[in-house]
Order: sequence, then structure tokens, then C-alpha cells
Amino acid sequence: MYRGCEAHRSVNAMTKDKWGNPHSHTSKSAISALESATEQLAAYRGDPVGTIDAALKNDPDFLMGLAFRAGVFATASDKVFEPHLRKAIRAAEPLMAKANDRERGHIGAASAWLEGDFERATELWGKVAIAYPRDLLAIQLAHLGDFFHGHSLMLRDRVARVLPHWDDTVPGHGFLLGMHAFGLEESGEYALAEKQGRKAVAANGQDGWAVHAVAHVMEMEGRAGAGADWLSTTASGWEPESLFAYHNVWHWTLFHFEDQDFDAGLKLYDEKIGKNGFDQALVLVDGAAFLWRLTALGKDVGDRWTPVVDGWAQRVDDGYYAFNDMHAMMAFAATGREDLQSRLVTALKGAAEGDGTNAMMTREIGLPAARGIRAFGRGAFDEAVEYLLPLRTKAQLFGGSHAQRDVLSWTLIEAAIRAGDKSMADALAAERLAAKPRSPLNLAWQKRASGIR
Ligand SMILES: [Fe+2]
Repeated sequence: MYRGCEAHRSVNAMTKDKWGNPHSHTSKSAISALESATEQLAAYRGDPVGTIDAALKNDPDFLMGLAFRAGVFATASDKVFEPHLRKAIRAAEPLMAKANDRERGHIGAASAWLEGDFERATELWGKVAIAYPRDLLAIQLAHLGDFFHGHSLMLRDRVARVLPHWDDTVPGHGFLLGMHAFGLEESGEYALAEKQGRKAVAANGQDGWAVHAVAHVMEMEGRAGAGADWLSTTASGWEPESLFAYHNVWHWTLFHFEDQDFDAGLKLYDEKIGKNGFDQALVLVDGAAFLWRLTALGKDVGDRWTPVVDGWAQRVDDGYYAFNDMHAMMAFAATGREDLQSRLVTALKGAAEGDGTNAMMTREIGLPAARGIRAFGRGAFDEAVEYLLPLRTKAQLFGGSHAQRDVLSWTLIEAAIRAGDKSMADALAAERLAAKPRSPLNLAWQKRASGIR
């Protein structure tokens, strides 16, 4: 009885943040900085790492500050940031004796990521969110983990698990709606996704992830005009100080592609993506995904591949994340860089034989996808079809969104047409048109497929 009361008293004595999450650290200013950084990260705005670093400068023992840093650098999906992840975890280790369950969960998740077990990391952040359903950081990190694994239903359901603990009176409720909207969209529930996403944007026009979720709905439903309008009319909210603008702009270019207005896509790319450079894998992915779609169609993109090739060349031997590696191969294949193609395949073979989540992703999807893209690049279109066709049933295993993975279908139909494989090209055109019957892009593919003799 006495011991129980003591335990109860010690829990109550813990400092809590504005969401009611307990902290072993008692500095109110540090916790306030974490609240700000968490909301910046949820909106993909400002400088969340800078905000938390300022707090850690004053309070180097602020465990959740270190957990925040570790989580951000883990989910950047870029080996370049791994030293930062390792450093945050090492700094947290001496503090673990006083850590509470929630903090142990965060550090455990980041440690699992560092060890290459991305799936376990995601589940650990998810478990923190189950125990502390107003832990916005844990919810977002688990959401990102689900995204990197292509866990479409968990993008929806992991958020649904905690939603009953949030309402309009809880700060940041809109961020939950935005995440739920994206999960609903990836699960094919487009009407509800759009409703949730619009509600989130109405609550906070700066919520770039919620804007993005609605853009995804419009992409999947083939509403290219509405999608371009949506991003254009909301841009004043999400674009300034955004960490995520390049990706929303990438979606914007896809809407122009759908209408076959490739010049409009290139203009946006030049003005809002290319000119800002490619300093991290997430931007390189969008750069490659944009340029490859044009290259695959036979469009001239000038020298735009150069900085993208340079960025991927720095990561060619990493074998860190198969989804990224496929995009690296796009850059190397489009520019005929045989040397980098060979190095990347060697790295992928090594990664496929290793341990951890990425080994599975590389074995199942990354390596055959890279080989298919490579074959396309050297004009071996039959071979490209052979590699890429079987991936359509399981490409979600290496993560990304439906819209991002559509590059496989894009490359596949173009390869089938160029290979002169009429029945394959007809089938793939029919598949695309079933999803987007009025798409000028798809109608153009159908026309080319039907013209094969
Ligand atoms: Fe997206």
C-alpha cells in the first residue's frame, strides 16, 4: 500500500507537457521548446531541429530533446544523417536510468532504426503512441515509419487508434486529422480522406502534410485541374518556411503531367525544386522521380540530371534504403553512367544479403526495380518489362506512396510500347485508364499502344 502510494506520487510529480505526456526532465523551458519543435515538425515548417538544439544547449540532459533529434534523423531515410542519429542515442544512454517508459520507448525505437530494424522501430514508436495517445511526436514518427514501409492500412489505423483522445480543444488536433487523411487516402478511402484533409487545412493552413493528403486524393482520382488549383490556392499557407515544399510542388508537377503540359511541370520544377539544390535524399527522390518520368517519355530535360546524379553518386555505395536506391538508378540510367550503375547494383546485392528491414526491401523490390530501370536506360525494353512486371503486386514492400510507386507502372507501359509488345501495352493502358478514364496522359499511352503493329 505504502509503496503503491509512493509510486503514484512519483508519477504525479513528473513534469508534463501541454498534451499531458510525462517527462523525467523538469525544465519547463526545455519542454516548451520540445512542444514548439514537435508542432513545427508536424507542420513540416521552420527549423524544428534548430529549436530543439537551442533547448539542448541549455539542457544537454533533456532526454526527450535527444529522442526528438534521433527520431527526426532516423526518419530522414538518409545514411548521411546516421551520425546525428547515433550521436543522439549515445548522449541519451547515460540518462536512461532515470527515464520513464515513454522516453525509453522513444530511445528504443530510434536505436532499433539505427540497428537497421526499421519495422521494429516503427512498432516501438507505435507502442508509445498506444500508451501515450497524445504523444504527437511518437504518432508522427510511427506514421513516417509506416510510410517508409508502405504500410498503407497502418498509415490509417495507427492514427485511428489515438484519435478518440484528441478533439478541437487539444492543441495540434488538425495534425492528427491530416495524418489520418493521408492514411485514408493510401487505403483507398478517398472521400473521407478529402473530408479529413480539408478539415485539417481549415484548422491550420500551414499544415503541409494535410494539404499533401488532399493532393494525393486528387492524384489518385485523376482530378489534375483540381489538384493544381488546390496546391496553388493553399501555397501561401504551406510554402513559406516549408521543409516539405519540394514534395508538394512535385505533386503539382504530376498534375501538369497528367494533362500532358510538360512545360508547366518543368517551369515549376526549375523555379521551386531545382534551384534550391538537392541536399538530402528526400529531395533527390523527388528530383529523380520528376526527371525520370520525362526521360522515360523521351523528353529532353537538358542538363537537369547533373545535380541529381551528383547527389546520388555520394550515396551510391550506401545500400541504406531500397526505395531511394531505385531513384538513384533512374539518375544513373538516364545519363548512361555505367560506372555508377555497376556500383549501385553491387551495393544492392550486398544490402540484399544483409540483415534488417532494408535487406528484405532490397531483395524483394529494390534490386529487381533497379535492374529494370537500368535495362530501360540501355534500351533493353523487353528485359525492363520482365523485371518490372512482377513488382506491381508487391512494390509496397519498399515503401513510398501509391503516387510515388506509380513510376513503376509509368516505366512499365513505356517499356512495353517501346518493346513493341502490343498485348502488354494494351493491357497496361487499360489498367491505367480504368483508374483515370479521362487522363490525357493515359489516353496518349492507349493511342500509342493501339498503334503497335
Ligand atoms: Fe506525396
